Amino acid sequence: MVDQAECTHPHRTRRWGRSVLTSIGRQEWLDRPSYRLENILSFGYNAFGGARNRVTNALNGVWLGHPVHPPLASLASGVLAATMALDALAVGEAVTGRGTPGAHRLATYTLGVGIAANIGAAATGITDWQHTHKQDRRIGLVHGLLNMTATALYGFSWRSRRRGHRLRGITLSTIGYTISLGSGYLGGHLVFASGIGTDMSGPRLAARTWTPVLPEHLLADGELCHVEAGGVGIVLGREGQSVIAVGHYCPHLAAPMADGWLDRGKIVCPWHGSQFDTSTGAVVRGPASAPLPCYHTRINNGHIEVRAAATPPLAQTALAPDDPTVGSGCLSENASHWENPVRHNEPETESATTSRSHHGYQHNERHPQ
Ligand code: FES
Repeated sequence: MVDQAECTHPHRTRRWGRSVLTSIGRQEWLDRPSYRLENILSFGYNAFGGARNRVTNALNGVWLGHPVHPPLASLASGVLAATMALDALAVGEAVTGRGTPGAHRLATYTLGVGIAANIGAAATGITDWQHTHKQDRRIGLVHGLLNMTATALYGFSWRSRRRGHRLRGITLSTIGYTISLGSGYLGGHLVFASGIGTDMSGPRLAARTWTPVLPEHLLADGELCHVEAGGVGIVLGREGQSVIAVGHYCPHLAAPMADGWLDRGKIVCPWHGSQFDTSTGAVVRGPASAPLPCYHTRINNGHIEVRAAATPPLAQTALAPDDPTVGSGCLSENASHWENPVRHNEPETESATTSRSHHGYQHNERHPQ
């Protein structure tokens, strides 16, 4: 027979966690200071002048393809957990006279690495937080304040250790680590429940056969239009003679890209201004860090047709840094050296064959570069 207390305990813990999140999410008074902080951040980024986008792109993780904050936060929590373990060994040594020599010195080193990682996580985290809204914004603010408090305690702890005040140093970092654990719970909620920092572009078109989606004359120059192919939302756009097709949702926070606009080879997100290359879907400017899905298009018998592009294997992407398609998530049909080998052995579809045999003659094709 299962003990009832054993059964209800996890539910109580979950309920307690949920009520903490709900109660923080309701604190509307946090909005005023958080918008002030956002203004200060914008002012700070603008101080970089022409390098502003390079700085924010680096902090948002455009170069990495996903946010930089999570790996830095993982590094911080790992080395700080090591500090706790080494401190426990050092205390054991002091009490029993037996233990691991050098544990205290090693703990000071790992604490130093943890402080540096926490500072990096704060710089990248606050850049990501800047574009959150409502409850997530409030929870993110509390998460950041707790982390700052913990980092300050780690800093005092490190100084105390360097001055020989071991017990004080251990006490301060232990309090800091307890605060970090609470803050980590809030951060986990933002990622796993709210999806902050995850790719929100949603389902992608997988079919490699051409699908007609819109009569060509219905798409005017400079316009964006939402259509569907195989149940997947797609945004078509026309720039002069070129027709582009990209995913319906922005990878950052799922803004409808059909509400955005075209700007000289880029499509701009209507919510936070992320810019994506219309040829490849690659991020030109954050806060989005993942590329926008992007598809092949052609005009056939007066209809715009779309089909999925092959996705380059990650390892091969890393081997081709000079290729303009690197990091785009899209692939030109001609760049066959990136094709998945399994796909090479698949029989070519009839429509793909047709499109190639008519390439440059009957059809005005446009492929992600
Ligand atoms: S939803 Fe934030 S940049 Fe698109």
